[in-house]
Amino acid sequence: MITVVGSINIDLVVQTDHMPEQGETTLGNSLSIFTGGKGANQAVSISRLGKETQIIGACGTDEYGKIALSSLKKENIKTDHVFLVPDVSTGVASIIVSNSDNRIIVVPGANYLLTPEKISSVKDEIVKSEMVVLQLEIPPETVQAVLEICNEYHIPTILNPAPMDKFRKEFIDLATYITPNEMECISLFGENMEETLEQYPNKLVVTLGDQGARYYDGEKHVYINSYPVKAVDTTGAGDTFNGSFAVALTEGKTIEEAARFANASASLSVEKKGAQTGMPSYEMVLNRLG
Ligand code: RIB
Repeated sequence: MITVVGSINIDLVVQTDHMPEQGETTLGNSLSIFTGGKGANQAVSISRLGKETQIIGACGTDEYGKIALSSLKKENIKTDHVFLVPDVSTGVASIIVSNSDNRIIVVPGANYLLTPEKISSVKDEIVKSEMVVLQLEIPPETVQAVLEICNEYHIPTILNPAPMDKFRKEFIDLATYITPNEMECISLFGENMEETLEQYPNKLVVTLGDQGARYYDGEKHVYINSYPVKAVDTTGAGDTFNGSFAVALTEGKTIEEAARFANASASLSVEKKGAQTGMPSYEMVLNRLG
């Protein structure tokens, strides 16, 4: 079983032809409501690939919380350890999509009440996992607590450092794999990507959007090629990469094989609107890999 410890959101998605500049008002084409949150998205990606999945997170007791929970259950994800927190809203992401690109503001709500104390109460569940997957839409002290447990019990972890402003230097040693996108990698580790990757061989795997992904294997830089796709909505592509990377690693694939699998999976996810809609089945990924 793979455990995701992370956020559960409702995504309010506005589609527009023109991304507004600061101080500008522009007209949108549509408003859609999707289930999202980096934690939930990564859990959905893992489960769609046929792997037993549980999510540890927090929701409000509001309508959004009910929608999010029932959608996770429909995706076959174990939600017994999603904490229901009264008097606080479920996490919400306000997303503007324009020309298949996006800008996101997340209001964490209940996600920020997933405290280290709550994690202690579900430690037994965490230590049963084959792998634990984390992002940074929950409190950093909670991420740290989970990483410390996993380290103690030798459970491999993937930390997707998004949003990056909550990243802590201590996470670098604690996590098995860290998967920033290019912009996050440069902001967190500096402009020189080659040097950065060489400092963290087989740990730092950088996603490059429509350019694929790359990492350093201790001897050489490895590039994972992208697929030519007609992107409709890139929201959740990184989450699909992370979930799929986790599944492939737990199957015993090498980092390179796992990154290729994850990249193919992410390329499928951008072909549909919404973070979770386009997340593929295992068979679909195999077909894309060819
Ligand atoms: O990575 C995409 C996700 O980021 C969205 O689903 C949104 O909820 C934000 O958390």
